[in-house]
Amino acid sequence: MRNVAVVISSTRPSRFADKPAKWVVDRLQSEDDVDVDLIDLRDHPLPPFDQAVSPAYAQRDYSTPEVARFGERIDRADAFVILAAEYNHGYTGALKNAMDHTFVEWQHKPVSFVGWGGVGGARAIEQLRLVSVEFEMAPLRHAVHILPDLMLPAMQAPEPFDPALFAALDDKLDKLVADLLWWTEALASARAYA
Ligand SMILES: Cc1cc2nc3c(=O)[nH]c(=O)nc-3n(C[C@H](O)[C@H](O)[C@H](O)COP(=O)(O)O)c2cc1C
Repeated sequence: MRNVAVVISSTRPSRFADKPAKWVVDRLQSEDDVDVDLIDLRDHPLPPFDQAVSPAYAQRDYSTPEVARFGERIDRADAFVILAAEYNHGYTGALKNAMDHTFVEWQHKPVSFVGWGGVGGARAIEQLRLVSVEFEMAPLRHAVHILPDLMLPAMQAPEPFDPALFAALDDKLDKLVADLLWWTEALASARAYA
């Protein structure tokens, strides 16, 4: 059984992120042999990173119990889908701060991206790909971009949210999942022999 973490990168009370989160989690849960861990950064309010040594070197020397709880959760994952809100042409500060508290917990694991916004979160996702390489992750090609044609109707849809509103992107999500699970197996095997 592989653990795939779906990371919600935005924390605003009125966030859109919960809609793609439901769609992506439902899709992953339809896979055999996959445990899905929905990691909501709202549940991990971390202090601004202020340690003397980068976690790349300090390695799980957590500064607070809350940082330890977050780091241990990232450690348990075999792969990630980052749900990427785009703020001012970048990804969210909450996600950057959380990632800066950790390092080896993400290392040698694949990561895929689902974004939304005016250009489907493309600029945030491209930045996250660069940062993922620094974390020695494997950022994958098959992202899903939710553009305004689907985002705006989804924003106005009644609750509970019906993920069928993203059905036009189901093929793209299928491709993302297939590719992510291939890399999940490949890198889990490689880590086992490292
Ligand atoms: C501070 C801020 C900056 C934003 N900047 C962008 C942007 O650069 N590009 C974009 O497509 N949307 C931008 N938006 C609109 C977001 O795409 C939209 O609010 C989206 O719902 C954000 O995700 P969230 O609701 O999960 O926080 C911005 C929104 C906020 C709150």
